[in-house]
Amino acid sequence: MSVIYQAYVRSFARDLPGARARLDHLQRLGVDALWLSPIHPSPNVDWGYDVAGYDEVHPDYGTLADYDALLAAARERNIDVWLDLVPNHTSDRHPWFTERPELYVWAKSIPNDWTSIFTGKSAWRFDEARQQYYLHQFAPEQPDLDWWNPDVRAEFERILRFWFDRGVRGLRIDVAHGLIKDARFRNGQQYLRNRPEVHEIYARWQEIAAEYDPKPTLMGETYVPLAELPPYWQHLDLAQNLWFLRADFTIDELSHNVERVMREIPANRTPLWFGSNHDHSRMATRWAGGDPDKHRAALFLLLTLPGAAILYQGDEIGLEDGAVPPDRYRDVARPSRDPARTPMPWTRSGAEWVDPWLPLTDTSRNVEDEDADPNSILNYTRDLIRARRAFSDGSYERLPSPKGVWAYRRGEATCVLNMSAKSHVYEGTKLAKWEGAVL
Ligand code: NOJ
Repeated sequence: MSVIYQAYVRSFARDLPGARARLDHLQRLGVDALWLSPIHPSPNVDWGYDVAGYDEVHPDYGTLADYDALLAAARERNIDVWLDLVPNHTSDRHPWFTERPELYVWAKSIPNDWTSIFTGKSAWRFDEARQQYYLHQFAPEQPDLDWWNPDVRAEFERILRFWFDRGVRGLRIDVAHGLIKDARFRNGQQYLRNRPEVHEIYARWQEIAAEYDPKPTLMGETYVPLAELPPYWQHLDLAQNLWFLRADFTIDELSHNVERVMREIPANRTPLWFGSNHDHSRMATRWAGGDPDKHRAALFLLLTLPGAAILYQGDEIGLEDGAVPPDRYRDVARPSRDPARTPMPWTRSGAEWVDPWLPLTDTSRNVEDEDADPNSILNYTRDLIRARRAFSDGSYERLPSPKGVWAYRRGEATCVLNMSAKSHVYEGTKLAKWEGAVL
């Protein structure tokens, strides 16, 4: 029942040695795995999600030796290191794009109405050198790979082994639902992603993972409607449920999502919950609107539901979205995702950040102060992570409760969460606004 910590490296601690220096924080928090956003060389059109070399470390972050040192130091603290793998597309600066163009998706003329998520316009771009159009689901600088080509599969099997051999214990697979495109290029966005043949790729990756002990975890960024999540549980250990994150913070919306997942998930798979990541407004803002009590309720939920949870850097201190003036935007997408990517405030002075890539705006919620305050959100998060170890199994049973209270049985324990701004009483237990309790 893991807790995974997502570090957006550039804003977590600038680089890999910086991340290594923050491992004590993660150990005291009690997390099991550290998922690093892409660490590979990249021209940073999409901040690392445009990879120019899968076997290397971006010089901004350090070297392979720095990665090895981070991994060794994490191991000493019983923390696994996970990487973010981007198999759907590369950067147009990846040597493959010029030296092995057959690895990408090409057409002599624009064959259909597929559109790019970032530009909203045609996903096909004319390439002067080849006098053909290539496909890009994201930015034009992120050409899509052709996963019908066995050479692409062979390359990624090699890349998987490269990192598993180097001790990686988990992969977050970017756009996991998007790798296979309709071979006939039919019109309609439903033919651009979420194709049934994609699962064969993960079946094969599981065979590779199974060669290692312990078997690395495969977690997909499966941005598909909730009803279409179940096929991804066939071969992915963890399938991200983005509709939980996108739900309003109400019992109705969230419990509907939770109960559907619990009904449909196969017995050998683990449900996964998170409320923030680098692409969406942070939960302290989007769900809690800055209210620290409401943020605690969100943490209570994430960390008491059965299965695994992801904490995005800053969730543990109640960090809100940063205020980024439009002239400081670095993101290629609009609306800008930068407010969710601002630096982690380790201290109130912010002195640890010299000239950060995005502004360090509000440091009133910071690790140093919260560490010293026994009643802080940070210490609340630590307590919850400690408490969840006592749940005896992965079961969930909804219990009757007064309106405004969400109650569920977790093995021998009962979790009650006041999801309202008024106090309530649940079977004799008084709950202040937004308060959760494990009975
Ligand atoms: C999903 C990643 O989380 C996002 O940051 C990125 O822009 C797209 N995939 C494209 O790689």
